Amino acid sequence: MTKIEILQQVRIKAVESALKDALSVAPSSGELARPEKLLEAMQYSVLGGGKRLRPVLLIETASLFGVDETRSVRAGAALECIHCYSLVHDDLPSMDNDNLRRGKPTTHIAYDEATAILVGDGLLTLAFDLLSDPATHPDANVRIQLVQLYSKASGIGGMVGGQMLDLDAEGNQLDYAEIETLQAMKTGALIRCACEAGAIMGQANIEEREALQEFGTLIGRAFQLVDDILDVTSDSATLGKNTDKDSDRGKGTMVELLGVEATKQRAEELLDNALNLLSPFSGRAEPLAELARFVVERKL
Ligand code: IPE
Ligand code: IPE
Ligand code: MG
Ligand code: MG
Ligand code: MG
Repeated sequence: MTKIEILQQVRIKAVESALKDALSVAPSSGELARPEKLLEAMQYSVLGGGKRLRPVLLIETASLFGVDETRSVRAGAALECIHCYSLVHDDLPSMDNDNLRRGKPTTHIAYDEATAILVGDGLLTLAFDLLSDPATHPDANVRIQLVQLYSKASGIGGMVGGQMLDLDAEGNQLDYAEIETLQAMKTGALIRCACEAGAIMGQANIEEREALQEFGTLIGRAFQLVDDILDVTSDSATLGKNTDKDSDRGKGTMVELLGVEATKQRAEELLDNALNLLSPFSGRAEPLAELARFVVERKL
């Protein structure tokens, strides 16, 4: 393992420990009680599995500006909660109807559909609980900027809106621009949010913030292109989720429009452009560059 990979393993551990604490059965201040069944299902959906790409991106971006890691880990854990909620709902019978996620039965299979819906609801609100806590950032102005950023990224003009476009696309051939918009929303928005949140926490200047926002946009796009490629080129044992789902359901993917090779080439172009955006940060951004390469070269 390289030094950077070891560093990222440490970051992942820190995020998982923050998630575990946030999902304890003991109620936190201001709560009445935490139903054990709900918390158990939330732990099942969040802990034990997942690449943790979004929180690690956030922590690495924040570390460019020397942000205290205990804070960026909390913001990263909050973003991972939103991501896990999106997966639990994405897998529901009324959405992608999947029974395998992160190598385990999906939440609605392991529990039931109603519980899976509540797990998602609980995770989304927990994210904002974590984010708005002064432990995440002492400056209330920074916290409110984060709350707004996460709201826009996860909501109607971001992930949720993208999921609507994705469902509507089933069985319809979308054009290039339509697929780009759908993917930028359903997947790109949370990845871009990770990079922008790090810049906000670090109180970056406008040029730095815009560069990181664009970096997040480009790797977010590349990430979904690779997800679509893996759906046709990989297998469920490697990915921990079912494959060949997109063609089965007539999903609007770039692979369907352009084929695997051209989609790969597009992802590589996005990577090159993303890496160029990091040049003002020089060697300090090497961990972020590593993550960007991982997004395109990953096998899971
Ligand atoms: C899968 O995301 C869903 C998409 C947005 C394409 P990840 O590939 O990051 O899933 P985990 O968190 O590693 O399981
Ligand atoms: C999922 O896209 C995007 C979100 C969960 C928001 P996919 O439906 O392609 O993700 P997988 O392939 O099931 O992980
Ligand atoms: Mg889906
Ligand atoms: Mg899916
Ligand atoms: Mg997919």
